[in-house]
Amino acid sequence: MKFRYAYQQFFSHISIIIVAFLVLSLLFAHYIESLVYENKADELVSYGKAIISDIDHNPEDTGRIINQYSTVLSKRKMTFSMFDQGFNLYSVGKRGPTITNLEPEQLREIAKGHTLVVNADYKTFGSEGVTFVVKPYINNGRFYGGILIASPISGTSAMIEKVNQFLLYTILIALGVSFLLSWLLSRLHVNRIKRLQEATSQVSAGNYHVNVPASNFDEIGELASDFNRMVNKINRSMEEIESLENRRRQFMSDVSHELRTPLTTISGVIEGLKNNMIPEGDKEKGINLVSQEAKRLIRLVNENLDYDKIRSNQIQLFREDIQLQEVLEIIQEQLYLQAEEKSNQIIVEADPDVHVNADYDRLIQILINITKNSIQFTTNGTIWLRGRSEQNDTIIEIEDTGVGIDPKEVENIWHRFYKADISRTSNPYGEFGLGLSIVKQLIVLHNGEIDVFSEKDKGTKFIIRFKNEKNAAV
Ligand SMILES: Nc1ncnc2c1ncn2[C@@H]1O[C@H](COP(=O)(O)OP(=O)(O)OP(=O)(O)O)[C@@H](O)[C@H]1O
Ligand SMILES: [Mg+2]
Repeated sequence: MKFRYAYQQFFSHISIIIVAFLVLSLLFAHYIESLVYENKADELVSYGKAIISDIDHNPEDTGRIINQYSTVLSKRKMTFSMFDQGFNLYSVGKRGPTITNLEPEQLREIAKGHTLVVNADYKTFGSEGVTFVVKPYINNGRFYGGILIASPISGTSAMIEKVNQFLLYTILIALGVSFLLSWLLSRLHVNRIKRLQEATSQVSAGNYHVNVPASNFDEIGELASDFNRMVNKINRSMEEIESLENRRRQFMSDVSHELRTPLTTISGVIEGLKNNMIPEGDKEKGINLVSQEAKRLIRLVNENLDYDKIRSNQIQLFREDIQLQEVLEIIQEQLYLQAEEKSNQIIVEADPDVHVNADYDRLIQILINITKNSIQFTTNGTIWLRGRSEQNDTIIEIEDTGVGIDPKEVENIWHRFYKADISRTSNPYGEFGLGLSIVKQLIVLHNGEIDVFSEKDKGTKFIIRFKNEKNAAV
């Protein structure tokens, strides 16, 4: 069964208010009633006292005093009667109450000198309710009789009724106002919760771009700010997942693309050989082509594995102090033929004192990759391999006078499979666009930095900075 939260709130407010009003008004009505009766009784007692004292002072004027008082009291709807020590009435005002109607116990108490006060009585003097007081007259410790004064309740209860009526109106107005207030408060609360609930259903429906008004004012406000934080976190995670997924997709399509050319060549040559479609003289050429392409595939797989290993910190560097000039000369020697093929000259400019703290094999890998690129993109030019020290660091520069890189593309050259110009992918020995991404990861692993400065058609300069912190292997 569904019981709306607004109604729950409303009913709980209202029930508390009603109980509070009931208790308060009952207490108040009771208090007012006893106050009014007490007042009445006090009035009767003081009249009784006055009559007794007047008679006491002027015993000879008793008749006149009684007449006087009975006129005054009858105007106030009060009646009284006098009695002697035997409780016999000896002077009764107009239709005064009969003392012998009282209980013997009550009479005994009166004879002892106690004033009897009865706030509301319906049996002693007929069915009409009265308030009555019996005041004994004691002189020198002796009981001589007393006075009995009664007043009908009707006046008193009419007054109480009026007060109660007034009380009822006040309660009704207060109840009305509190109904209204409670309804407004309940709606206010429910609306705030509703906003949260709507936002939550949007999130569960897959829309993570929602926000609810938050505050530090109360728990609902804090819940809202927690909710916003949660949604922001989900958003960030979703973006991360999306970019990871994009990268994965891009990687798969890049790898497939790179695989297709060598595999097509291999498959074509093998089909040709199988069907004897290749003339005898060209067979060796075909087999060489298959071998080259197979090597290319192996390089693709190895370099990808290498990249992943470096990225996920799976390789260990063995850092040592290496004389830079020697290394640069090795590179020059290794790439001499390739440079010659494109009419390039390689110049090494390094001080024999300059050392670099690095992993030897990985340093060679870095320099070969960059220098090979320079040879690839330079014809009839010069390639400088420079080494120098700068404060505590070792700087290696590889500069060429080649085609340069478009400023728009400079940022991308570090990405896996990025090749600036698709038309340049004709080189059968490489150009997967993997070289520089591996270089970058290796330099990061060495805690070094690499920058590139290039101008279209003028040349390119790579600057590597190795920090010479000893034993900084990761
Ligand atoms: N010295 C350079 N001059 C001009 N462009 C360069 C130079 N070095 C790199 N580039 C550009 O950066 C791209 C990425 O280089 P990278 O070494 O990563 O890949 P690649 O040489 O094309 O292929 P791979 O190194 O896998 O054989 C190159 O394709 C080229 O467009
Ligand atoms: Mg390269």
